[in-house]
Amino acid sequence: VQDLSADLRAIIDLQGRIILLSLLIMGILFVILAVIVVRANKIMARRAEERLLLEEKLGEAERLATLGKMVASVSHEIKNPLGIVRSTAEILGKRISRVAPGNEHLAAIIVEETTRLDTIVREFLDFARPRELTTQLESFNVLVTRIDRFFEREFKKKGVRIVTELDTDLPMVRMDGEQMYQVLFNMVFNALQAMPEGGTLTLATGYDDQRNEVSLRVSDTGIGMDEDKCTQIFIPFFTDKNRGTGLGLAIAKNIVEKHGGRIEVWSRIGEGSVFTVILPVEDNPSPDDRSSGVDDGNGQG
Ligand SMILES: Nc1ncnc2c1ncn2[C@@H]1O[C@H](COP(=O)(O)OP(=O)(O)OP(=O)(O)O)[C@@H](O)[C@H]1O
Ligand SMILES: [Mg+2]
Repeated sequence: VQDLSADLRAIIDLQGRIILLSLLIMGILFVILAVIVVRANKIMARRAEERLLLEEKLGEAERLATLGKMVASVSHEIKNPLGIVRSTAEILGKRISRVAPGNEHLAAIIVEETTRLDTIVREFLDFARPRELTTQLESFNVLVTRIDRFFEREFKKKGVRIVTELDTDLPMVRMDGEQMYQVLFNMVFNALQAMPEGGTLTLATGYDDQRNEVSLRVSDTGIGMDEDKCTQIFIPFFTDKNRGTGLGLAIAKNIVEKHGGRIEVWSRIGEGSVFTVILPVEDNPSPDDRSSGVDDGNGQG
């Protein structure tokens, strides 16, 4: 009889080793797999979070767009009846002086308040539905002269002195004159509001030949702002006025940036503020484009 016990032990030993090795390999594989699963889970969780955020943002953008459209259409609907109310109040004002003298101010209040509402509605419309640019070569000097004429009486009433410093060699720039006038208007109106006790408003134009840019500066000697406020004033609806919508500068910024320009602000509490609109000048303008737009007799306010 052959003794096979040694072979059997060897076989059992080998089997044991194989099983052990398999167990080890399986264990390692299991650990690797577990690590992969944990990682994948983490990645998936992160992705899900990102998707949720994205969806939220998209939802918000959609909501804002819808809100914008709603505001625009409601504002538009409000404008017509508002105009009727105002003109009716104006007629009423004239008649009331005959029927009930001394009560004219009541009609004046309606006119004033509807005018204010009209401004708010227009600002909302401008903001929610910015107009396309209709550009042609224009000069900042012309805008300054126009604004001067418009505000002349208001300035005098408020005890504000106007100084205009027009660059007579100012190059013309391709711009939407009406929209740029609105930018200047908003800034001058802010300056006026910042000087309730009167002061000096300086309107200046200039040309930087190094950078080939024109500038339009509105400076006031009003209440001024601290640094913190300076960073917030262009945010839509930021206002510290009782009767402001906080859209004036947001609209101005939109318009200027659409022209490829920028607005710079300097301000100090108690000293005043300086707002500068800067626009790039197109290269190679034809010779007649380099006219200053200064018309005589309107240089000083
Ligand atoms: N020249 C200035 N001097 C001091 N503060 C200013 C000046 N211009 C703007 N600001 C500040 O910036 C804020 C935002 O101005 P913006 O013109 O956008 O809105 P608003 O004047 O408050 O309201 P509105 O929509 O009627 O213009 C103002 O409320 C004011 O606090
Ligand atoms: Mg304003």
